[in-house]
Amino acid sequence: MLYALLKTVHVLSIILWLGGMIFAHFFLRPALATLAPPERLHLANAVLGRFFAAVLWAASLTLVSGVWMIGRVAKASVQSGGSFSMPLTWTVMASLGVLMVALFGHIRFVLYPRFGAAVAAGDWAQAADRLARLRQWVGINLVLGLCIIGVLYLAH
Ligand code: HEM
Repeated sequence: MLYALLKTVHVLSIILWLGGMIFAHFFLRPALATLAPPERLHLANAVLGRFFAAVLWAASLTLVSGVWMIGRVAKASVQSGGSFSMPLTWTVMASLGVLMVALFGHIRFVLYPRFGAAVAAGDWAQAADRLARLRQWVGINLVLGLCIIGVLYLAH
């Protein structure tokens, strides 16, 4: 029961995180591009602030639930007299997942405040540059997330 709960939390967190990145990249960005820089950058700042607050929870829950599930499976194997060796797909997921969490930390705590500072200063050229950089890193995280899904469901 606990395992099922952990897995549900894990998958819901991933849906929010990956789904939000897909929405921002493919739907929000093209619509924002039609606005003038001040409106576009203010709106991007407000949307990303809300999205990153939610992803902070989602990324933390992904990590905690993932590590917890591995711990439970390892403990059960050892208690039943066997040994625990992690499936390759789990190793790939955990390694790339930790990388995604680290990149998100960089995006949220380094790149986003820099972008916000440029918006607050009304320096639209610099804000646009910083938003472009932030978007590149979000794009990398999206690709990593999709690779994990590919490894989990296609690589058998
Ligand atoms: C942060 C480190 C992560 C760890 C330690 C971790 C660990 C785990 C574990 C132990 C399971 C249970 C597998 C099972 O019972 O079959 C699981 C399931 C899953 N994980 Fe992760 N995970 C992590 C990150 C991620 C990320 C970043 C994604 C997607 C981008 C992801 C997607 C999934 C999915 C979709 C499942 C459900 C698989 C299924 O039952 O079909 N995980 N994860």
